Amino acid sequence: MPSISTLLKHWEALAIVISVVGATLLNFIITIYKTRKYHLKDLKALGLYRDETKEVQNEKTGLKERRVSSKIKVYWKANKLIFSKYNRAFSLSDFERLKPNLEILFGKKIELITFEKQLWSSQPRAVLIVEALPKKFLLSQRPKLKVGQIFLGIDTLSRFVILEAIKDFENTVMILGGKGSGKSSLLIGIISSFFETLEENNRRNEYELIVADNKGTDFIGVVDRFKGSAYQPFNIDDLRELVGKLKQHKAEIEATLAWLKSNKVSPRHWDEIRNGRIPINVPPKLFLVADETRSYFSSGKQPPKLSKDPTEDELLKKEKFDLTREFGDLLNFFSEQCRSTGCILVIAGTSLNKSDYEYPSFSNFPILVLGQGNQQQSIQLIGDSSLNDNTLTRGKFIIRDEIGTRRFLAPLSIEIKDTENDSK
Ligand SMILES: Nc1ncnc2c1ncn2[C@@H]1O[C@H](COP(=O)(O)OP(=O)(O)OP(=O)(O)O)[C@@H](O)[C@H]1O
Ligand SMILES: [Mg+2]
Repeated sequence: MPSISTLLKHWEALAIVISVVGATLLNFIITIYKTRKYHLKDLKALGLYRDETKEVQNEKTGLKERRVSSKIKVYWKANKLIFSKYNRAFSLSDFERLKPNLEILFGKKIELITFEKQLWSSQPRAVLIVEALPKKFLLSQRPKLKVGQIFLGIDTLSRFVILEAIKDFENTVMILGGKGSGKSSLLIGIISSFFETLEENNRRNEYELIVADNKGTDFIGVVDRFKGSAYQPFNIDDLRELVGKLKQHKAEIEATLAWLKSNKVSPRHWDEIRNGRIPINVPPKLFLVADETRSYFSSGKQPPKLSKDPTEDELLKKEKFDLTREFGDLLNFFSEQCRSTGCILVIAGTSLNKSDYEYPSFSNFPILVLGQGNQQQSIQLIGDSSLNDNTLTRGKFIIRDEIGTRRFLAPLSIEIKDTENDSK
């Protein structure tokens, strides 16, 4: 056996051997890592690139050698997967065609595919932008809004999702999602941001907040803060008061519209009238929120039968049935007739089956905000299967409006209890 002293004499040779072995090993590990990270084998199977083998003559030895060159260069840059070298025959439509495969491969939703010119190559760079919803989005991170805008959240391309309730009449929104999908939290975000914006612009008195919710707990904070009124429709006294209030509002609107008509003023001037330029007392606009609608507007309810000598209980059931219908008809009236009078209606329910609801009429709610659903519900509501997706977890919704369908994350409002004011 050679002694250590002999080995040390050859330490330079040893160092070279170790470096070569080390570098080869490192290269090997990097190749495996890259292949895994970018799924090179699968990309090859999809036709995104081919290994090209060439027989090349070695000038020194004069022997023929096989050389393999892979025409692919792919890398991640934040939420973009960029292909700068790929199959030359591929166009944008090929990437679009492979979108579902690539989504499965990388486990991420692809939101947008674009082509960008490259400085050093005639081949355009293919940029696949994948979903980048933040883990959590707080209401305090919302943008500054204008009066009449409804804030929903942030989309997968980090753009804010805002509806123009007044400007573009996007004033009726229906939110449907399973239990715990985040509907009530979204409603709280919508109400808070809308009324905060009114306050910021000193126009708080223009809107009246009315909340109908069978749970009766979710909206205590916002109703209190913005001096609205909350009702639990399962409670007959609340239902009577709610329907009475809405009927009165309807009567006031009708009277105002009649006055405008006789004076040949368009209801479009509602805001000017409210600002006092036209001397008439105009009712405040309605901001009506109805949560848990499935529990009072469910379909298939038959009118309760009354016996010849109806008991008090029978009469109450009948009254409740009639009042619920009246409430539903009023919702339909406001959603159908009150666009120019600035009425805003945001309704939420736990079922994604249209047929489960007697009210309101879906045709008056073209903007749908939807949580996870099954294939059938998805096709029925938006015409494709995007709701059938288990990554649509808490706070994540799909909005369907005239632009199309988009995913977004709703804001979460964290209320900090004001303990100082609580102590007596
Ligand atoms: N945007 C969000 N981001 C993160 N978590 C959220 C978000 N929205 C809701 N959540 C979480 O999900 C929970 C349920 O939310 P919420 O009560 O709003 O759901 P829901 O759809 O109204 O449920 P239910 O049908 O039972 O009334 C909340 O306690 C909250 O922790
Ligand atoms: Mg709820």
